[in-house]
Amino acid sequence: MDGFLQLVSVGGSQSVHHKLVPPGQLLLGRSRDCDITVQSPQISRQHAQLFWEPNELAWSLVDLGSRSGTHLNGERIPSGRPCLIRKGDRIGLPDLTLQVRDGSDASTIMESIRRLRVTEDVQPDTSIDFTPVELAEDLDSNRLATLLTFSKDIHDAPDERRLFDAILQGVTSGTCLDNAAVVSCIGDEGDIDMHAATGELATATSDRFSRTLLRSATSGTPGRYLASGGSGAESLVSLPVQAAGCAPLMARDTAIACLYVDGTDPKVPDEQLRRDLDFVIALAQLASVAMSNLARSDLERRFAESRSRLFEGTVRAMAAAIDAKDPYTRGHSDRVSWLSGELAKALGRDEQGIEAARVCGQVHDVGKIGVPETVLIKPGRLTDEEFGLIKEHPAIGYRILQDIPGMRDLLGGVRHHHERWDGGGYPDGLAGESIPDLGRLVAVADTFDAMRSARAYRAGRPVEEVLEEIKRCSGSQFDPVMAEAFLKIDLATYESMLASELD
Ligand SMILES: [Fe+2]
Ligand SMILES: [Fe+2]
Repeated sequence: MDGFLQLVSVGGSQSVHHKLVPPGQLLLGRSRDCDITVQSPQISRQHAQLFWEPNELAWSLVDLGSRSGTHLNGERIPSGRPCLIRKGDRIGLPDLTLQVRDGSDASTIMESIRRLRVTEDVQPDTSIDFTPVELAEDLDSNRLATLLTFSKDIHDAPDERRLFDAILQGVTSGTCLDNAAVVSCIGDEGDIDMHAATGELATATSDRFSRTLLRSATSGTPGRYLASGGSGAESLVSLPVQAAGCAPLMARDTAIACLYVDGTDPKVPDEQLRRDLDFVIALAQLASVAMSNLARSDLERRFAESRSRLFEGTVRAMAAAIDAKDPYTRGHSDRVSWLSGELAKALGRDEQGIEAARVCGQVHDVGKIGVPETVLIKPGRLTDEEFGLIKEHPAIGYRILQDIPGMRDLLGGVRHHHERWDGGGYPDGLAGESIPDLGRLVAVADTFDAMRSARAYRAGRPVEEVLEEIKRCSGSQFDPVMAEAFLKIDLATYESMLASELD
């Protein structure tokens, strides 16, 4: 991702076109000093900020404690907590909705199948009716049944793609309108992105769509058009369209997309068409609840992701602090982390198991933080007393990490990475399978790196010799299953990690 994005107004009275160029930041608010000054009494002086996160290579949005809040795809984001944004997102401020767009392509959060440019209607469609429709108004039992099936389908939809398919299915099975599309309008030029379509709208050109209807729906008001209703519908009257309608698909207060429908069968009576259009608007209202749920779970997922990245960052910082105490073990935690992850892969573990091994490798020596530096970096032989101090590090590490929620599953690995398969290790002298799995796993990775890399008192040993040693100690020091799997690891990446530390 190159990080170049655009903010384009898609709602509100103000027109905004702003490029986001990394690295940088962008302040939004009422104050004149803001990069985007929004003229609304409800907006705070410094309302929200977008900033480039170099570690994520992405832009984040943060609400700066504003009174009226900042919304992302209709969901209010908690103040002060940055949230990563993506193409297609809608940022909602009072009186202004901005869409995040890529400068070059048409892709959005919702996958788009086509982009059209809808030109301004020659004359406003005077026969368009914008009266709100009550959800259950005049629904006969047949319709009600369709609505119930539809309701179940849309709430089961795991993503927008499937939600849109369910919406189109609901329209075509419940009405005599054969043509339906889920579109979103972007920018002032009248470009629309088509996300899903069925019937003639799947291949229609831009003149099939009434911009008046689209604009109304984009601002939150559904509209209906009937060919018989008046003579002013310039954009549609030249086409064989008997009825058309457009209703917003809202995530809370934000119109994320619109449901556009039309029908061309001249035999369908007006009364039926009117009811069908009302039904479509009712479907869109139901679908909006599902849209809101999807937007909320998307936001939760983004925060969960950033929490896990924060956690990873902390882990890495801790490991770096340990390695910094001893220049000879520089990079040891990173390498043991890599080797542990590869060993987990070689053992056929799943994603979660591989990740656990990786993080455990990263923190396995965290307890060294409690061992005096003079002992850690002492060249030559250690006295029994000094060795005693070193041997405390697994238990110290265990105590440091035991209260951190994300670390609980790794504690066994931290405490027991110096146990031996034959029971001769420390701190608890466990043997065989009574040693926690991660302890047995990290033990092989740790010992390999300790032998392969240079220490204060000796140079690193050649890789073949170290692998031979792993083989030799299988069943005495190491779990034979772990040792055997370790020999399958392709060590090219490891060797370059090691070489970069020696530079
Ligand atoms: Fe250790
Ligand atoms: Fe270690």
